[in-house]
Amino acid sequence: MNTPVTASPEVTLDRAASILRQGGIVAMPTETVYGLAADAANDDAVLRLYETKGRPRFNPLIAHCADLEMAQGIAEFPPLALKLAEAFWPGPLTLVLPRRADAALSDLVTAGLPTIGLRVPDHPVAQELIARVGMPLAAPSANPSGRLSPTTADAVIEGFDGQVPVLDGGPCHSGVESTIIAVDGDMLVQLRPGAIAREEIAKVTGFAPRDADPEGGIRSPGMLASHYAPRASMRLNAENVGPGEVLLAFGAEAPAHDGPILNLSQTGDLAEAARNLFAHLRALDASGADKIAVMPIPDRGLGEAINDRLRRAAAPRG
Ligand code: TXA
Ligand code: MG
Repeated sequence: MNTPVTASPEVTLDRAASILRQGGIVAMPTETVYGLAADAANDDAVLRLYETKGRPRFNPLIAHCADLEMAQGIAEFPPLALKLAEAFWPGPLTLVLPRRADAALSDLVTAGLPTIGLRVPDHPVAQELIARVGMPLAAPSANPSGRLSPTTADAVIEGFDGQVPVLDGGPCHSGVESTIIAVDGDMLVQLRPGAIAREEIAKVTGFAPRDADPEGGIRSPGMLASHYAPRASMRLNAENVGPGEVLLAFGAEAPAHDGPILNLSQTGDLAEAARNLFAHLRALDASGADKIAVMPIPDRGLGEAINDRLRRAAAPRG
């Protein structure tokens, strides 16, 4: 299929708000990655969102709220959840909480679960957009399902062949998605490592969230083994570079290589590495190489989220 050359899909805040109010979808910047937004109360809009992204309908969406008050209109906040929201919102923390019976939400957002994932993004453009629409916005990352998450407006435009309106808010500051925490009474379960390190959460609550139990209990339907997949295959924990490989390096001691090489952080800074992760993977993938060799990344702090994304990107494709 030939994609017709259209006018730039970039839209203004005014236009984006009006598209959303009319049940359309718009890609919006957040501090983590770009999100593909729809009015969370509008069934048709949310359905269109699943279709545009090619996302399985069993995989629920995060509701993005302007502030804590809006969030409290759609979910129950036990004391521990309130403590986390007060410490980290606005910011890259998604809380999975019991959905309120009277919440004005499309059932498609929660994919039939009794819980809802919600967060208040720390990005002025996203906040202004939600405030103008006056409703929580359902927004998965703005990539076709299973592909790399977008951290720039250009990456969104490329991913959807220019067919989705995009509100450009510049490159994303964090670069990996939010940390997802389910609050279950006085227990915390980390469903997805992300832009807030487990250690940071422990500093606020006095204990670290545990991992989801693979045998049962609260889990995240979206944590599929293969995800974030570049076209090229990936080789993790590489100490050297093989023939035909390109290199995703980390730190000052990258092995010698005369082909394409990008460094996540020359100084070994994990926040910088997280910020560069998806953009560097995208660029190395675009170089046309068959395989991306990736140097080891320490598993502490934001390294946990980076290694999670790399493992999924490297997993056998379903
Ligand atoms: O940083 C982010 O979180 C970005 C930006 C756009 O906000 N969004 C994002 O959305 O990463 P998405 O849809 O790509 O990932 C959301 C994850 C999925 O794995 C989904 O299964 C999980 O959150 N999730 C959503 N609601 C849930 C719920 N009620 N229970 C368990 N997991 C849930
Ligand atoms: Mg995603």
